[in-house]
Amino acid sequence: MKLPDTAVGKATGLLTAVIIVFAAVLHYFDDAASVKYLSMAEDMKTLEGNFREHNKSCFILGASGETGRALLRDLLGRNIFSKITLIGRRQLTFEDKAYENLLQEVVDFEKLEDYAAAFQGHDVGYCCLGTTKAKAGTEGFIRVDHDYVLKSAELAKTGGCTQFHLESSRGADKNSNFLYLKVKGQVEAEIEALGFDRYAIYRPGVLLVDRQESRPAEWMIRKFFGAFSAVCSTSMSIPIQAVAKAMASNTLLQPEQKTEILENADITNLGKGAGK
Ligand SMILES: NC(=O)c1ccc[n+]([C@@H]2O[C@H](COP(=O)([O-])OP(=O)(O)OC[C@H]3O[C@@H](n4cnc5c(N)ncnc54)[C@H](OP(=O)(O)O)[C@@H]3O)[C@@H](O)[C@H]2O)c1
Ligand SMILES: *[C@@H]1O[C@H](CO)[C@@H](O)[C@H](O)[C@H]1NC(C)=O
Repeated sequence: MKLPDTAVGKATGLLTAVIIVFAAVLHYFDDAASVKYLSMAEDMKTLEGNFREHNKSCFILGASGETGRALLRDLLGRNIFSKITLIGRRQLTFEDKAYENLLQEVVDFEKLEDYAAAFQGHDVGYCCLGTTKAKAGTEGFIRVDHDYVLKSAELAKTGGCTQFHLESSRGADKNSNFLYLKVKGQVEAEIEALGFDRYAIYRPGVLLVDRQESRPAEWMIRKFFGAFSAVCSTSMSIPIQAVAKAMASNTLLQPEQKTEILENADITNLGKGAGK
């Protein structure tokens, strides 16, 4: 069937009108949202300025990992610490000039007690350390995710550190039947008992990242959640830059309690707009 030209013209005109109205509505909401982010960003700038004046220092555990690297980049971008020390098992090299003032302490995590000095004199500690059972075996996983993390926190506390930020995991629970969640929950609780002035636990869901090393199972899970989060933000997953941004931003905020637990949704809120 052939439609008369006038009918085609009318239909096209109507369609165009609908699209224009739709675009205008979208634009309106988009604008409203960006205004909100703008004022949030301005508040952040003020908080960053105030924080910067105190010449605080921090250390990062796991700065060679995916979250740690993103956190380091975020912190450097804000320039809120007068000294940043990376504590790890190997020396890292950076090309970028922004990284030239970093300090590094290479330690043997099996003999951390001998490296107490590396943990001395930092105000804030960030821990993004971790391995998997697949990489390190059950025993190795417990050594890293529990023993190394706890010992580091202890040494930091003894060394004068007043606030500790721990990247844990969604579902962490010391009473869990799953080894992974149980270990995460145990170390969370044991660090709380150390009595930092301030202690923040981050429990992200599946981390969305283009990982440097290949982990096929994780890749599949990521593709799955990635597809979802494109449609709506899921409570199950989060981009790695958002976790980093949340950890850095939260450092500047005043918590209501000494210990705070940030679930995936809280991290998502604090980390909005990261990596853009
Ligand atoms: N993957 C997820 O979806 C997910 C979800 C929720 C929570 N988490 C948790 O989030 C944390 C960070 O995850 P991520 O994916 O960012 O970590 P990642 O990329 O695997 O990095 C792990 C970091 O830990 C260090 N590390 C590992 N084994 C070590 C050992 N034996 N001795 C010393 N250092 C060691 C690594 O140092 P080297 O570079 O020297 O190896 C690296 O800096 C972990 O605790 C993880 O359990 C992960
Ligand atoms: C921070 O360092 C600057 C420059 O070195 C100094 O002028 C200032 O007094 C220091 N502030 C504090 C709170 O120590």
